[in-house]
Amino acid sequence: MHTTEPRPMSARKSDALSGRARVPGDKSISHRALMFGGLAAGETRITGLLEGEDVLRTGEAMKAMGATIEKRGDEWIAHGTGNGALLEPEAPLDFGNAGTGVRLTMGLVGSYDMTTRFIGDASLSKRPMGRVLDPLKEMGLQVLSAEPGDRLPITLRGPKHAAPISYRVPMPSAQVKSAVLLAALNTAGVTTVIEPVATRDHTEKMLAGFGASLEVETDADGVRHIRIEGQPKLIGQTIAVPADPSSAAFPLVAALIVPGSDVVIESMLMNPTRTGLVTTLMEMGADIEILERRNEGGEDVADLRVRGSELKGVTVPEDRAPSMIDEYPVLAVAASFAEGDTVMQGLEELRVKESDRLSAVADGLKANGVECEEGEASLRVTGRPGGKGLGGGTVQTHLDHRIAMSFLVMGLATEKPVTIDDQTMIATSFPDFTALMTRLGATLD
Ligand code: S3P
Repeated sequence: MHTTEPRPMSARKSDALSGRARVPGDKSISHRALMFGGLAAGETRITGLLEGEDVLRTGEAMKAMGATIEKRGDEWIAHGTGNGALLEPEAPLDFGNAGTGVRLTMGLVGSYDMTTRFIGDASLSKRPMGRVLDPLKEMGLQVLSAEPGDRLPITLRGPKHAAPISYRVPMPSAQVKSAVLLAALNTAGVTTVIEPVATRDHTEKMLAGFGASLEVETDADGVRHIRIEGQPKLIGQTIAVPADPSSAAFPLVAALIVPGSDVVIESMLMNPTRTGLVTTLMEMGADIEILERRNEGGEDVADLRVRGSELKGVTVPEDRAPSMIDEYPVLAVAASFAEGDTVMQGLEELRVKESDRLSAVADGLKANGVECEEGEASLRVTGRPGGKGLGGGTVQTHLDHRIAMSFLVMGLATEKPVTIDDQTMIATSFPDFTALMTRLGATLD
């Protein structure tokens, strides 16, 4: 549980940011690296792992189910149980703040004939788990106990023999897709996941890398059909985790809105299911140069040179949402400094993140003098170039790391400081955020 005292923090108008920065490893890939490494037979070696609280919880959960995971020098080494051989955990698995950790692990254990109890912090305990339990129940999972609305704490028991299913994911969610694919690992036969709207594809790519037999076909309507053969032999791999575009988004937007800035962000993951923010910012007139595109460990990465820019408002196409779903809070911050209106639509999923991000963003913007309009699933932000008159408010972060970091970025370019009520959750995804931003020239205290 999250028991530490809240620690407020303020961001103040800063001089031009400069320097090079490598943000921590990708959170989605880091969770999966520990999970698959903890499952696969033999040794998995991981470099660049995000050592944030969320990911470390996933590592603890895998250890509680029989894996060995340890850090040696700069590397994390996992010895997995072998696919199909996870052990029943003796104590509840505590996922803290981590939606990805809990939802993917529910999938992983959902096809095991064992009892697993899941707990989490106040934010995670408010988030809906029915979206992963529904398909898992079709495979034979029993929900022994849950709080109303399928909320944590939840106790699950898998069937003796899980049944393969064909499941059309009803909302654009990589977590739901992944939960079904992971349950399929311990299910005889072929499981099919149908994905009408493409979401991040790390589970598919990484499982194939560990030896799963998996086929992806995109039909004429752009719908993805992912077929996975059950009970594969998974073998340990070597994984280099690229820098997280969802974390890079903070120094990137900071460099754009602080005049005169010139910052290079190194080795950022350029997987197209993750780069919607960069596309959108370029449409807004951002000066972003993509340098040295290369392939590292099976993923495209690049260095990004970002300079202070005069942005203009745009309408973000709805179908881009899955490729930038975690970046809307910081996009709203960029939009606050743009000429004209920025309109974001198709944001229903933002309401079920670590907080209700749509209202948390709108409230934070209003508290700092930014004109905006919150719809059911949309946000319109009217920018004020130069940030004149903006700032001076305190933002409620609702235990949400991305709300915290977004508004600290905002305060670097507003006339008056921006304060957040609590910085502690930043450690879930970006433990060295303050140090890295300060090194670039940000004033945070
Ligand atoms: C993630 C999927 C997304 C994203 C989350 C990480 C993943 O969630 O918001 O931060 O690693 O699969 P949804 O599946 O709920 O969209």
